[in-house]
Amino acid sequence: MNLYFSDQKPVGRPEKEQRLNQKAKVIWMTGLSGSGKTTIGLALEKELYKRGFLVMLLDGDLVRIGINNNLRFSVEDRMENIRRIAEVSKLFMNCGIVTIDCFISPTNKIRAMAKSIIGEEDFLEVFISASLEVCENRDIKGLYAKARTGEILEFTGISSPFDVPADPDLVLKTDEMTVEETVQKALDFILPKITLQE
Ligand code: ADX
Repeated sequence: MNLYFSDQKPVGRPEKEQRLNQKAKVIWMTGLSGSGKTTIGLALEKELYKRGFLVMLLDGDLVRIGINNNLRFSVEDRMENIRRIAEVSKLFMNCGIVTIDCFISPTNKIRAMAKSIIGEEDFLEVFISASLEVCENRDIKGLYAKARTGEILEFTGISSPFDVPADPDLVLKTDEMTVEETVQKALDFILPKITLQE
């Protein structure tokens, strides 16, 4: 079925990218809970915004109290969580907006699904790398302690799997670098990809 009348077409992504003076991409941050995805995502968003880019940041804790508040942490629910996020990111992308997604997205299968929804060209996989030991020691939200006692079930890294990404576009080692260093490395990688050529 044709959704549009013959003379009515939506304004395309290239026009919107021109208007915003940027190229839309999806920056997909994957990593364990406590690895630093949201910390880096927020700092990166700020730096990009300062440089004139329009960026949308999506993060597990926020999305899971809003659009995905009916989902928990079974394999199926995580899949559905990421499917919706990928679809939402694609909508932003088609509006010319750069999206930073901060989600554990724990398995190769789940990330492959996100990539296939968004499209290989536009999906930039960034592995936020920190060992389980480091994340557990940080335990910013106190969730690892609860996962160890069994108060929280199916916790990533403890009682639910995390596949280390096989071929990410960028790796940021938050157990070896400062936030500033990781953000600089992310900027060096991302800026050429979202800058519109004259
Ligand atoms: S994902 O696996 O579906 O990608 P998502 O990134 O949305 O996860 O949510 C992860 C956040 O939910 C964690 O940072 C943590 O605060 C919280 N959380 C609560 N329960 C769990 C759990 N069982 N496993 C992982 N994270 C959990």
